[in-house]
Amino acid sequence: MKRTISFQSTDMSRREFIQGTAAIASAFGLGLSQIAQAQDASPAASGDVRPVNVAFIGVGAQGFGVDFKRAMNVPGVRMVAICDVYEPNLNRALKDAPNATGYKDYRQVMDRKDVEAVLIATPIIWHAPIAIAALESGKHVFSEKMMAYTIEEARNMARAAIKNNRILQIGHQRKSSILYNHGWDLIRNKKICGIVTHIRAQWNRNSSWRRPVPPDTTDKFWNWRLYKETSQGLLAELGSHQIQVVNWYLESRPTSVVGLGGIDYWKDGRTVNDNVEVLYEYPNGIKLNYTSLTTNQFDGYAEQFMGKDGTLIVSEGTGGQFYREPNAPLLDWMKHPVGGKLTGEHKEPGLLLDPSATKKLNKSGVKVGEMTIEGDVRGKDDYQLEMDNFFNSIRTGAPVACTAMDGFEAAVAVIKANEAIAKKSRVVIHDSDYSI
Ligand SMILES: NC(=O)c1ccc[n+]([C@@H]2O[C@H](COP(=O)([O-])OP(=O)(O)OC[C@H]3O[C@@H](n4cnc5c(N)ncnc54)[C@H](O)[C@@H]3O)[C@@H](O)[C@H]2O)c1
Repeated sequence: MKRTISFQSTDMSRREFIQGTAAIASAFGLGLSQIAQAQDASPAASGDVRPVNVAFIGVGAQGFGVDFKRAMNVPGVRMVAICDVYEPNLNRALKDAPNATGYKDYRQVMDRKDVEAVLIATPIIWHAPIAIAALESGKHVFSEKMMAYTIEEARNMARAAIKNNRILQIGHQRKSSILYNHGWDLIRNKKICGIVTHIRAQWNRNSSWRRPVPPDTTDKFWNWRLYKETSQGLLAELGSHQIQVVNWYLESRPTSVVGLGGIDYWKDGRTVNDNVEVLYEYPNGIKLNYTSLTTNQFDGYAEQFMGKDGTLIVSEGTGGQFYREPNAPLLDWMKHPVGGKLTGEHKEPGLLLDPSATKKLNKSGVKVGEMTIEGDVRGKDDYQLEMDNFFNSIRTGAPVACTAMDGFEAAVAVIKANEAIAKKSRVVIHDSDYSI
């Protein structure tokens, strides 16, 4: 894919122009360094398209529908093996990768010396056994989230990666997202919220989460998410992404958790809760209030960081917004909303965070020059960027965006929250729980 970043200044010196553009771009949308970083992570940018032989294990909804296709888009990726225990899914994927050999038992894939990387998108109970076998066979691993079903399994995955000196990337794709990296910069470097004191996050849906079962398989196999023996429930399947974001933005991790949950509406034989409500405590008294509902979709999914100076909302669905507190400093860039003007409940002035803001500013007549981005970053979703990142790391040794530690800390927080819900009591999360 072609990539162009062109900067054209009018009457400004190049230095002034870059500074001006950077200030406005980073305030409203992308920081230039983020664009550069994302570009660096792309195979086309590094010029490194050395072939990498890949085995894909678990080609269901996420595996086939998302990860497999994104992996195949990465130049130089050769899908040589596909494994799935469910034959119709295996055959569907094999049609798209005619040079791949099909397998039903993942252990046979490990014997293939020509396979350099293994991608895993099976149900959660299989992440650790497959990832550890692959790492022990000297293969790099991308595994979907949540990292593993138990803390011990997740820890063993991380240990296997360290021991074998292999890459282990966990599929929390927000860590590769341009918008989420921008949000991180606004909170950590620009400190637009001031001191963050509270976070609200939610993932609300109005659906049973139950999938219609094909006649040739069983409900327990197909609807693995609904049963305790194969699932850590809503907190793992949805919340782990968002808890990972909070850990990342706060640069810390929860120290205790209380929670409630129940099977209160979908009384259909499931054994995982159909609603969860948890309160995490982070260092310095910061709280994360997390909710996931299956009976009402209002508010959808987002993470909302609330600080003394403002509120930043980030969402993979609806993008980003910032609301300034009335007494907070009015910075220059806040006076010129380019992505749309918003107002909070108490008339807090709001701004949409807009990754293409620089271009729009230019169009609206503000002489900041022109920035054109085509190709490698634009038009790529978070999943594509995370796959680019994984293969770039294999080829160049660059760090992965979502490390084993990132995945591990999110998994510990989720499993401890489920423990708190089950025990109906506060669970302390010790430093030792987070040690690898
Ligand atoms: N990152 C994201 O945004 C995101 C979104 C959805 C799902 N996921 C994750 O992706 C994973 C898969 O979820 P899904 O919705 O695709 O599930 P799914 O049930 O649709 O697909 C799972 C596939 O794995 C196969 N499988 C089961 N056991 C296997 C085994 N032992 N060996 C090989 N194949 C096996 C199944 O036959 C099926 O084809 C889960 O870990 C889930 O949490 C991530």
